[in-house]
Parts: sequence; C-alpha cells; structure tokens
Amino acid sequence: MSDLREQIERVVRQVVREVLARGDVLTPAGADQAGRRPLVAANWKMNHTPNTAREYAGGFDPRSDSGVEVALCPPAVLLPVLAAALDPLAGVRLGAQNLHAAPEGAYTGEHSAAMLSEAGADYVILGHSERRCLFGEDDPQIQQKLSRALQAGLWPILCVGESLAERESGATFRVLRSQLTGCLSGLGSPAPDPQGLVVAYEPVWAIGTGRTATSAQAQEALAFIRERLAELFSHGWAARVRLLYGGSATSDNAAELSALPDVDGFLVGGAGLDPDKLSKLIAETASGVARRSDARR
Ligand code: PGA
Repeated sequence: MSDLREQIERVVRQVVREVLARGDVLTPAGADQAGRRPLVAANWKMNHTPNTAREYAGGFDPRSDSGVEVALCPPAVLLPVLAAALDPLAGVRLGAQNLHAAPEGAYTGEHSAAMLSEAGADYVILGHSERRCLFGEDDPQIQQKLSRALQAGLWPILCVGESLAERESGATFRVLRSQLTGCLSGLGSPAPDPQGLVVAYEPVWAIGTGRTATSAQAQEALAFIRERLAELFSHGWAARVRLLYGGSATSDNAAELSALPDVDGFLVGGAGLDPDKLSKLIAETASGVARRSDARR
C-alpha cells in the first residue's frame, strides 16, 4: 500500500515538474508587463540536515497564490530529501548552490549538472561571493559553469556584487561590468532564454551582515545591470530577464525593495533558513510587487 502511495506521489511530482518546466508558467498571474514573475530563492548555504529539512518542508507555507515563484536551494545532499518531502502541488522549485563544469569524471567531491537536475534541481546558484572569496572561483570558471548549466537545462542564478572596499573606492560599476562581461559574454549566440537565467545583485558588504543596501543603491545597481545586459544581448532580452537583490533581505525590507522598478525578487540567506520567516518574506515581496504594478497603471 505504501509502495503504491510512493509510486503515485512520484508520478504526481514528475508531472508537476514537467508542467512547471514549460516556459509559459513563468508568465502567469504575478508576472509584470515584461513577463517577469517575481522569484524568491532561499540559499540555505551549509545549513540543515535531512531531518530538519523534512521538518522545514512540513511546516513551510510557500504562499502559492501570491504570484511569487519560490525556490529552495539546499546543499546538494538535501535535494532529494526536499523533493520527496515538499507538497508536489505547492509548486516550490529546488535549486543547487554550485556545480562542476565538466559533465562527469574524476572530480572528487563535486557534483555534475545532470546529477543535480536528476536530484530535483531546476535552478543553480553560480558565482556566489562565498564561492568567489572562499573557494577562489573566478569569472572564466563561472562562465564555464554557466554554459554547462544551460546545456543541462538548469537555470543559473548568477551572482554579482562589489566588496565594501570596492564600493568605498567608487569601483562598484566597474566591478559589476567586469563580472557581467566575464561571466556572460562567452555565452554567444543564440542568446540563452532570458526566462531561464536570473542575475542576482549581492553587494558583498550586505551579505549576512544585517546591513541592507538602501533602495537607491539597489535600484541604481540593478538598473545598471539591466543596461549592461542590454549591451551584451539586446534591450528586449534585458527587459525580460529577472534581476534579484540579495544581502540581508528580510520581511522588514522586502516590500520596499520589491516595489522598485528593477527588483524582481530576492536571493535570501539567513531569512530563508526558517520556514515562517521565508513565508512572510514571500508575502511582503508580493505586496511590494503589487505596489510597483499599481504605480505603473
Ligand atoms: P543573507 O545572504 O540574506 O544572509 O545576507 C544572502 C546570500 O548570501 O545570498
């Protein structure tokens, strides 16, 4: 009996994933005029265990009717745990935090795109500042990982952002330009589907510090990023790609930030570790996005 139940659940999950994977579900209710549906992605970093992940899944309300797409990005070992524990009808997606650029081979300790995808991931975070600073990843490596992710049908969430010293020395835009060019310019033509690629602006000084970028700083950086993406691809392409803000985003600042013209959601660390906090942040994101849409009418 329980075997049959498991089999049915597996089939339902597979069908929901396939339906969700179709491009047109990225432009349902909740998308703005450019077709950008807000996204809240929670980067769990190296937190949670199989047991606490199951508890999280059991108590998580992803506010499925809010129009906000939700992705949980746990350590790779927890992807199948969450895939099995989340309610398949809630439509919560999963993401990985990194991948290896090679398709397979002798790379002890690494994960391939195909493994992550089969374990349940739709998204993959690439170029996070912790990968850049603590593990020495550079733009050419990130670009190879991006190519591999796209080839494997994973949607990259590319992180860019300046350090405090770079901001204070007036180098913010130079850094953003060089990271975007270094990571994306080799992707060539045809350009990747703009709905299958996300760019997150994460000022390093705001990550895990409780110091959020001001609305003006976030909007200025994200508008700059959209302009650079227009240069690299086209204006139409850049208008459709989703840009996230990351760095001490919480339910207290999500509504204000998501009301900004170029903020299409958040990449959250700390606030995503607790299901209630994340649920509140999703609701605040929906209310900020609604304010933005009202202002455009
Ligand atoms: P934070 O982390 O929300 O805890 O600042 C964000 C991130 O690292 O993506």
